[in-house]
Amino acid sequence: MSDLVIVRDEGHVRTVRMNRPDKKNALTGPMYQAMTRAFETATSDGMRCLVILGTPGAFCAGNDLQEFLAAAQSGRLDRPAHQFLHALARSPVPLVAGVQGVAVGVGTTMLLHCDYVVAGHDAHFSTPFVKLGLVPEAASSLLAPRLMGHRRAFAALVMGQPLDAEAALACGLVNLAVAPEQTDAEALKAANEIVALPPEAVAAARRLMRGPVDEIVARIDQEVSVFNERLQSAEARAEFEAFLARKR
Ligand code: COA
Repeated sequence: MSDLVIVRDEGHVRTVRMNRPDKKNALTGPMYQAMTRAFETATSDGMRCLVILGTPGAFCAGNDLQEFLAAAQSGRLDRPAHQFLHALARSPVPLVAGVQGVAVGVGTTMLLHCDYVVAGHDAHFSTPFVKLGLVPEAASSLLAPRLMGHRRAFAALVMGQPLDAEAALACGLVNLAVAPEQTDAEALKAANEIVALPPEAVAAARRLMRGPVDEIVARIDQEVSVFNERLQSAEARAEFEAFLARKR
């Protein structure tokens, strides 16, 4: 297991922490693979809830843009991210997240699959897909309008307007906002509340509430096919190169 993703089990709760703080937890192929494994083995390892965490100031800056650029240049597209999105959508156990700091791209869209989300007051959610020449992913084109209505989803997913913790609370993306240093503890508290409930009833209730998972997975696949075309567009390449070459 790569130390860029730290997986810990305590009782029936598995914590999956993205741990690449120098790059704001931007996700690379091996990180997606480690996360996918942690999701897919949760049930067989006796887990009943999975908590996704980042590091102070950074939940996740989205996909690594260097890897996007390499994929765009080589035409070899990104399987690990796609597999991670399937594992996320198909997670048989409830998902809780604790978000401190920046949550960009998939750092925000993965939250749409979570059952309970805690945000630090410093949380900053953004989905600049279209600004990068891309399209929304992780079934966000389906789940975000369902959660917050078309107009708010359009502002976020197409116009790239960010949300702070208060706005994320108001549109239902998060359950509660706390002091940043309390984020992980509150997320773990919620996870422990969930695992104290009768597990079969939790699973049955969650299945009823989420509706058909195949619909979500089908949307992920549909988005991936358009996303991969966009990834190789001149528009997208220019944006990745500009970010990676910027002078600060
Ligand atoms: N891919 C690769 N590297 C990334 C990254 C990403 N998605 N996000 C941040 N980094 C790197 C930066 O290049 C920088 O590396 P360096 O120190 O070697 O130069 C380091 O992480 C710190 O980022 P920095 O931009 O200095 O931090 P910040 O606090 O000023 O800004 C962000 C944080 C997340 C707002 C900003 O880094 C950003 O916009 N990142 C791109 C996010 C993105 O577009 N993701 C894809 C969405 S589809």
